[in-house]
Amino acid sequence: MTIPILTHRLTLRINGRDYGPIDAPPEMMLIDVLHEYLGLTGTRFGCGQGVCHACTVIVDGDGGPREVRSCITGAHWFAGKRIRTVEGHAKRDDSGKIVQLSPVQQAFLDHFSFQCGYCTPGFVNAATVLMEKLAQSPIAADEVEATITDALNPHLCRCTGYVRYYQAVKELVLKTPGLVREKAP
Ligand code: FES
Ligand code: FES
Repeated sequence: MTIPILTHRLTLRINGRDYGPIDAPPEMMLIDVLHEYLGLTGTRFGCGQGVCHACTVIVDGDGGPREVRSCITGAHWFAGKRIRTVEGHAKRDDSGKIVQLSPVQQAFLDHFSFQCGYCTPGFVNAATVLMEKLAQSPIAADEVEATITDALNPHLCRCTGYVRYYQAVKELVLKTPGLVREKAP
């Protein structure tokens, strides 16, 4: 006897493109849908328990961008929402070939921020959300380090290369116009 698997129809908007409809079990987590149904394997499965943040994706909404852990958040929760994954950051040509990394990706490369790179998609998304939030709401120069720590702290790197991630984001924040408030004269 074959036991039927209950599935629900699901369409997801990811990196500006609609994927689906697919038939996905209602309890399936987003990361499994990304990997098993959509071929978007850049999002990393680390702990699978909501601790390491390697699986972070970005959800854009009225309150601005925010990070969501795709290993503990059901795929159906994302229906009707706008998702960004690490595959969506770089600029691509018409054939899909990457022609320019995002500023955050380039900064991590320039600073040799990662070793194995397993945590990198999560760090890219965290730093991207931070940059976008600062563009909307700039901070004072003396708040930069603490703000970066708050943003990146939840992300674990098993290779322990934290320093260069933090250095890369700090340099990028300081050199990007409009993220840090000018001192009052
Ligand atoms: S894999 Fe999702 S938080 Fe670790
Ligand atoms: S670079 Fe290996 S886990 Fe972070």
